[in-house]
Amino acid sequence: MDQLTIARPDDWHLHLRDGEALRAVVLHTAQRFGRAVVMPNLKPPVTTVAAALAYRSRIHAALPPDCTFNPLMALYLTDNTPVEEVDLAADTAGVIGFKYYPAGATTNSDAGVTDLARVYPVLERMEERGVPFLVHGEVTDGDVDVFDRERVFIERTAAALVRRFPRLRLIFEHATTLDAVQFVRAQGAQVAATLTPQHLLNNRTDMFRGGLRPHLYCLPVLKRERDREALLDAATSGSPKFFLGTDSAPHAKHLKEHSCGCAGVYSAHAGIELYAEAFDSVGKLDRLEGFASHFGADYYGLPRNTSSITLRRNAVAVPASFPFAGGELVPYRAGESLAWELVTGGCA
Ligand code: DOR
Ligand code: ZN
Repeated sequence: MDQLTIARPDDWHLHLRDGEALRAVVLHTAQRFGRAVVMPNLKPPVTTVAAALAYRSRIHAALPPDCTFNPLMALYLTDNTPVEEVDLAADTAGVIGFKYYPAGATTNSDAGVTDLARVYPVLERMEERGVPFLVHGEVTDGDVDVFDRERVFIERTAAALVRRFPRLRLIFEHATTLDAVQFVRAQGAQVAATLTPQHLLNNRTDMFRGGLRPHLYCLPVLKRERDREALLDAATSGSPKFFLGTDSAPHAKHLKEHSCGCAGVYSAHAGIELYAEAFDSVGKLDRLEGFASHFGADYYGLPRNTSSITLRRNAVAVPASFPFAGGELVPYRAGESLAWELVTGGCA
């Protein structure tokens, strides 16, 4: 198969930033995806429906006027989120749910939740109202090895969470381990997971191949080859519990190539092409449409997109960098090539 037409996909986990950085990256996503769940870890974090709607307007303003791209906003859960905000979120189109960052887990997560017990009343209301809970599934304890943080989160936190809130709609964001795949598979249909392109295409050894490669560093960090295989198996299995979420997370080049480099892989420029490559690598291109265009919409109870995109097998060069808010942004595969090309997109 050298050409593939699928229903327009959606990106269920994306970082767009704000201001000049937003304007530098948003078109990459809008050309490929009908909708995206936009993460709230700005400075300051997007903690209220009002702030999310203002941010959503800035995203729309950064796009060409005829562009139909639909940003769906995640709110940043804090220790102090009032229960009433859940009701407001449930009643607001354009707001999709709440994002849980354990305090200190990653970029701009300082305002995150310090102890989940503090937000039990909020989670109870989310369960009642069917509001999705988007989870960064890592513990942050300094004594837990960085490669074990997802597994330990499942043991210490996630297992108890699904027992306490059995109807809570929980998305295990950017799952990176075999443990997470097994956990999600063992739960009912209310628990799902998003998977990033880098975790389907790379393992942790790739991060050190021939030297330290900061542009492959993200959180949760890349794991072992057996984890990558389990994720790719889940993505291509046809199970509706696993769907596309790039976690594309732009950082300026000088902050990635730094003595204390930021976590985040920028993949929006190839946000569907990379998944085509991953699915093709195991002969499962026929499963791409479900994963990329159907299962996420179905999970969130939203209509599937009616327009389509076409991809063609063709080596396309990736630039060494893109302009980015007065600096540069180094994309995934910079200076190398992609195996698939987007022929018809949107928002030209
Ligand atoms: O690698 C990451 N980058 N992981 C996250 O959880 C946050 C993201 C970012 O915002 O840069
Ligand atoms: Zn993210």
